[in-house]
Formats: sequence, structure tokens, C-alpha cells
Amino acid sequence: MKVRRMLAAGMIFCTCIHGLCACGSQSEKRTDKFLVGVTFYDQSDTYLNQLIDCLEEQFQNPERKDLEITMMVRGAAGSQQIQDDQVKELIDSGCNVLCVNLVDRADPSEIIDYARENDVPIIFFNREPVAEDMQQWEKLYYVGANAEQSGVLQGELAVDLIRGNGQIDRNGDGKIQYVVLEGEPGHQDTIIRTESAVNTLKKNGIELEKLSYGIANWNRAQAQNRMLQMISQHQNQIELVLANNDNMALGAVDAYEKLNYTESVFPVFLGIDGTDIGLEAVMDSRLSGTVYNDKEGQSEAIAKIAVALMTNDGMEKIKFENKKYIYLPYYKVRKDNVNEFYKKK
Ligand code: GAL
Ligand code: CA
Repeated sequence: MKVRRMLAAGMIFCTCIHGLCACGSQSEKRTDKFLVGVTFYDQSDTYLNQLIDCLEEQFQNPERKDLEITMMVRGAAGSQQIQDDQVKELIDSGCNVLCVNLVDRADPSEIIDYARENDVPIIFFNREPVAEDMQQWEKLYYVGANAEQSGVLQGELAVDLIRGNGQIDRNGDGKIQYVVLEGEPGHQDTIIRTESAVNTLKKNGIELEKLSYGIANWNRAQAQNRMLQMISQHQNQIELVLANNDNMALGAVDAYEKLNYTESVFPVFLGIDGTDIGLEAVMDSRLSGTVYNDKEGQSEAIAKIAVALMTNDGMEKIKFENKKYIYLPYYKVRKDNVNEFYKKK
């Protein structure tokens, strides 16, 4: 009771101070308050957690100092149904704009309908809706990265390593025996990364032999299991592991470590993302390289669009592809330049 009364008194006091300031100086800048709703597909995803941290930073320190932006974040635990409900809750709480990382990138209709009824624009990110769905309403945007480029860069990292070190072709048969660890089936990054990495190797004249592949849904523990199965089938035949993300590349390393293999029979491991643990693994050579998925750049683009939409100012200055899309570039990360990326933290 006493606590509640003290809180109430405090609130009156604060309101007074606020009121005094507002009347006291005409030049005092007004603060516009906005609410941004964010929902992402799964709170256990390493890369997305780091991306959401960057986004939070963007909204806490917006370019325009006269804005006060509060971000409400929800994790959807891998369920589109949960995410649909979260979107309703966020809109009902008064969010001015939504940032949505879809659980099922082929199923955004319910979210789009509710947002349109309430006139709340949506910036989708990282999991790209299909093109027809993006046409459902003019206030839909997408921020992500160019999946094909990430595969090409991973392929180029592999080409350079193979050309620079004859030992990678351990059995000396002139071919590189490789396996792939894949992310979620149906995710644009899974399909395109795998294809473009392998094509890049082939285009560069590297002879390949695919031994196997495993689906590990971006997840380190699942990747370890898939890798243990592949090692039991192919023993020390595997010379290269192409993983669709860092977590899975590290899961593959875990498998070799668990089996106590000596490092001389370890394959080359390559990831994508440049998460903190991914970059640390490049520093200590557990991964031979990764491809930086620019979470800072993507968050900045999301925040820019969100602020322009909320303030009705600046939309015309933003460079979109096809009026709705922004794709940030990826970067190759090797031991010799990893510090540049780690510093961004
Ligand atoms: C990818 C990223 C993965 C995972 C996935 C989730 O871009 O490389 O690690 O976070 O997004 O959609
Ligand atoms: Ca070989």
C-alpha cells in the first residue's frame, strides 16, 4: 500500500517536472514517442539474437535525438500460430510499426491482414517472404542479405584454401571429398547458399566429390549429430565441410573433437554469419573462414525505414530495390582480417 502511494506520488512529481519544463522554455525540443514491435522466429537462434541486440541499439540511439523509441520484442518459439498472436498483441498495444522475422516465410497472410486492417506497416527481415506476398500491400518492406553472394564468397574462401594448400586433398586423388551441413529446408539461405558455394568451386576448376549432406536447421547440436553419422559412414575421407552457418560448422568441429580424432585428419570447416563464437573460432583456427552476415548494416536499414515510416519523413531518401527491398552485402572473413569484424562488437 505504502509502496503504491509512494509510486503514485512519484508519478505526480515527475509529471509536474515534465510540465514545468514544457512551459518553462519554449525552445525545449519536443520528444515524439514511438513503439516498435519486433517478433522473431525462434529465441534460441544465435545469429538472430545478435541481430536483435543491434536493432535494440539502433532504436535506443536513433539518428534523430528528438525521438524516443521503445522496442517490444517477442520470440515465436518456432510456431507461426504463436507469432500470429504476438503480432495481434503488439498491434493492440499500440505499436506504430512492426519488424517481423517470419517463422514460416510462405505463410504471412494472417499477419499482413491484421496489420493492414490497423494500418501498421511491416518490415520483414532475414526470412524473406515470397514475392507475391510482398505485393499484398504497399506498406510491406524487406531487409536482408544477398543469399547467393554468401554462397559465392564461401566458395571463394574454399577455392583459395584448396589452391594454397595441397594437403587439403588428403588422399591426393585430385578431388575434394566434401559434405554439406544445411539449415532449415525451405529457407532462402539454405537453398541458395549450398548451390552457389558448390557452383563457385566448380567454376574455379576444383574437382569435387559430394560424399553426403545433413540437415541441421542452423543448430550446433543437430550438426554435431549429423556429422557423427557422416563420419561413421566415411571415416577420415571427408576433406571439406561446407556449413550454411557458423553454428553448424562448429557442430561439425565438435563431432571430430568428441571422437578424439587427431587434427591431421580434420577437414577444412567453413561457416557463414560471423557470430561472436564464429569469429572467435576463426581467430583460433577451428574454422578456416566464415562469411560476415552484416547484422549492424541490416539493423541500421530496418531502423531507418521504421523511423521514416513513423515520422512520415525521409522515406524518399532511402534506396530500395523494387521499391520494397534492401539487401546488405556479405564479406569474407579469414584469420588475417577477422579482427576488423570482431571489433564491431
Ligand atoms: C540466416 C543465418 C542463420 C539463421 C537464419 C535464421 O541468415 O545465417 O544462422 O540465423 O538466418 O533465419
Ligand atoms: Ca581428395
